[in-house]
Amino acid sequence: MTGLFTSIKLGPYELPNRIVMAPMTRCRIDADGVPADMNATYYAQRASAGLIISEACAISAQGVGYANTPGIYNEAQVEGWRKVTQRVHNKGSRIFLQLWHVGRISHPSLQPDGNLPVAPSAIRPAGKAFTYDGPLPFVIPRALRTEEIAGIVADYRDAAKKALDAGFDGVEIHAANGYLIDQFLRSSTNQREDAYGGSVKNRIRFLSEVVSAISEACGTARVGVRLSPENHFNDIFDDAPQTLFENVIDHLNSLGLAYVHIVEGVIHSSGKIKKTFNYGKLRARYQGQYMANNGYGKKRAEAALSTGSADLISFGTPFIANPDLPNRLAQNLPLNKMDESTFYVGGVNGYITY
Ligand SMILES: Cc1cc2nc3c(=O)[nH]c(=O)nc-3n(C[C@H](O)[C@H](O)[C@H](O)COP(=O)(O)O)c2cc1C
Repeated sequence: MTGLFTSIKLGPYELPNRIVMAPMTRCRIDADGVPADMNATYYAQRASAGLIISEACAISAQGVGYANTPGIYNEAQVEGWRKVTQRVHNKGSRIFLQLWHVGRISHPSLQPDGNLPVAPSAIRPAGKAFTYDGPLPFVIPRALRTEEIAGIVADYRDAAKKALDAGFDGVEIHAANGYLIDQFLRSSTNQREDAYGGSVKNRIRFLSEVVSAISEACGTARVGVRLSPENHFNDIFDDAPQTLFENVIDHLNSLGLAYVHIVEGVIHSSGKIKKTFNYGKLRARYQGQYMANNGYGKKRAEAALSTGSADLISFGTPFIANPDLPNRLAQNLPLNKMDESTFYVGGVNGYITY
């Protein structure tokens, strides 16, 4: 029976287990966006995962939305990430980089020349940006002109090339959690009247162009896509998510991606919110490897794998406090408690001290 410790072929790679470390922003990077030794130590400590997905990484200066987060758009950043990938590879694991453009989830103080953040439409999100001056209210973003979009697609392609250059085994396109690609996908944030807005087909166009451009750079088998069909984190909603995301899956199906990575339900909600989306239907439609996430423990993970409702499971918060999570799951050892107060603050504490 398939379980967490059954090996799996993912694109060109054979993974020894189906335990994936989910992407997690930890806000422990200097303002230049360059990873340092401490970050390499953090990832190396967690390299018993079958696959690690890095924290989200800005594809351009315009793609930055939080203080102390990394980039993958200049040579110094490539050099910094190389230390991370080498340490992870020395431990025999694989690591993909998560490609990120935040769109409207930013602030002029984080943007080049103090510009407005960009988005599909000029709609301000509720909430506050995480800036170097503390939390500041989001602003009304500038709607992208049609002719600007190709430049952002090219930034994605260049960033993917740099990720491979830095030694990553592949890339994950962050199309989840209310950031730029998700803003194009969903009706509450996309009110465009050009070829990138309106119909479901048009709203999928930006994601589709990003996937094609990155696939040219990396080969499709080294590309994953992360989606969050009903998550409303970052003030995002859709009128008909089931139809939208089934269409997204149909589009991705023919491409031969390494995997799709589905955040089921709502994150940061303590699991209190009832799921209304039918993930089984999504899974049944997808012909490649399906990675499930959100609130999984061993029992639920083994059940999902044995029934085929997922091919891999990604764990986020359990990996923060349990660098040796696969061993603990294998031996049914108790898990360390995480300290949420250290999730997004600088320093070693709660980062490499577990
Ligand atoms: C500290 C923290 C940072 C996160 N950063 C990211 C991120 O950079 N990219 C992303 O796609 N999801 C991010 N997430 C969401 C996680 O990948 C994951 O979906 C979520 O924690 C639910 O999985 P879990 O129940 O296994 O923790 C983050 C979550 C946490 C707790």
